[in-house]
Amino acid sequence: FQPKLLAGKRVLITAGPTFEPIDPVRGMTNLSSGKMGYALARAAREAGAAVTLVSGPTALDSPYDVQRINVQTAQQMHDVVLSHVGGQDIFIAVAAVADWRIANASAQKLKKSSGDGMPKLQFEHNPDILATVAALPNRPYCVGFAAESENLLQHGAEKRKNKNIPLLVGNIGHQTFGQDDNVLVLFDDNGHIELPRAGKQALARQLIANIAARL
Ligand code: C5P
Repeated sequence: FQPKLLAGKRVLITAGPTFEPIDPVRGMTNLSSGKMGYALARAAREAGAAVTLVSGPTALDSPYDVQRINVQTAQQMHDVVLSHVGGQDIFIAVAAVADWRIANASAQKLKKSSGDGMPKLQFEHNPDILATVAALPNRPYCVGFAAESENLLQHGAEKRKNKNIPLLVGNIGHQTFGQDDNVLVLFDDNGHIELPRAGKQALARQLIANIAARL
């Protein structure tokens, strides 16, 4: 039994990877499964919140009674988040957003035989969705995620400060992508605490309880 810790609250969550097109049939993405973000959406809904889930491409079923909005690119995720952020109490950025998109994506399928061989892809930066929301005057309580391959304790604390958010959640290692369990490290103004290895749904419930206690 979980008490309705988030009754009357509105929670906006990003989840999954983004997909950045190269041409109409090819693109650049990453190994995020979306499982952690979906588990958090489910846990927030269980805790009584009205939940909006902005999701990149995943193979997951929609959580019960959660408003799910599907997007492909980081720019689309950014635009949907900004059009839904008004009136939200909590924003949890779990998505593994592509740092770059392909600036010269082709409207037509690239041909193996065309030109002088290899396509020449150019990259440009995607907007930082979390940093944008964290900079809003009426910002919701912002929670970020970080997947670090090394020095999690140092990088996690730094990332929290750089993004100017009260709570940053670190995943230990890159082993989390696609897995059903995880270890979370919560960074805040007072330092960090660890939520030991457990299933993503159990960790999601603990994290939601932790966030509710901070509001
Ligand atoms: O800086 P880094 O990408 O490691 O930060 C990860 C955190 O920032 C995650 O919460 C992720 O969802 C969010 N993020 C974002 N938009 C980006 C890049 C990251 O919202 N373009």
